[in-house]
Amino acid sequence: MARKLAAGNWKMNGVAADLAQISALMATHPAPRSTVLICPPATLLQRMADVVAGRFAVGGQDCHAMDKGAHTGDISAVMLADAGAGYVILGHSERRADHGETDAQIARKALAALAAGLVPVICVGETEAQRDSGKTLDVVAQQLAGSVPADATADRLVIAYEPVWAIGTGRTPTLQQITEVHAHLRARLMKQFGPQASDIPIIYGGSVKPDNAAQIFGLSDVDGALVGGASLKASDFGAIIDALDAS
Ligand code: 13P
Repeated sequence: MARKLAAGNWKMNGVAADLAQISALMATHPAPRSTVLICPPATLLQRMADVVAGRFAVGGQDCHAMDKGAHTGDISAVMLADAGAGYVILGHSERRADHGETDAQIARKALAALAAGLVPVICVGETEAQRDSGKTLDVVAQQLAGSVPADATADRLVIAYEPVWAIGTGRTPTLQQITEVHAHLRARLMKQFGPQASDIPIIYGGSVKPDNAAQIFGLSDVDGALVGGASLKASDFGAIIDALDAS
């Protein structure tokens, strides 16, 4: 797994016509140096996998902790893998907030993902109130400790730092704040995994755009981005991939 990762989280956006954005992106970016990952809604997963034909990676946005069963509306990691996914986003703040997901549930989902051969992209991040009260580093460390399963391995894991208040708001932390959190996460991962933790991609998410990507990718311990809104448009996401390739 290349350490540099440009991941697009389409969230609840995209119908078949939007696959054209990815065809356009493939035309302008036939061979990016970074790993490019697209996480469309589950309804598009199989078709997205067909479009990217292995040149970009494809991922789910969540999975259930069980492989199958009576869980109406849920999707298992096995099903995501079967549809062509190689990754799955877990513990996104929108799932933590909208669906009350806990760290323990996220860890169980991550285990299911690993068992299905997927790489979990585990998200952590503080709310604005937590940052204002000086709790950011404690919050992300606690989320990391609770959400990353004990028997995960460094070669099949991605961590995304996404401050809740920076998602979809156009606001981003200062470069110093991003550096501080990523260094803290790296140190925690080193404690859990030892020296191999230096290979775990730690990516930043929250209002990453073509005009701020290069600065963010220039920071130490920032190995890429988890991009929401700007991943929906080929030209914007392409510019972000270019910035990562150049970093
Ligand atoms: P935006 O890039 O739209 O702020 O979303 C970030 C995000 O939540 C990606 O998972």
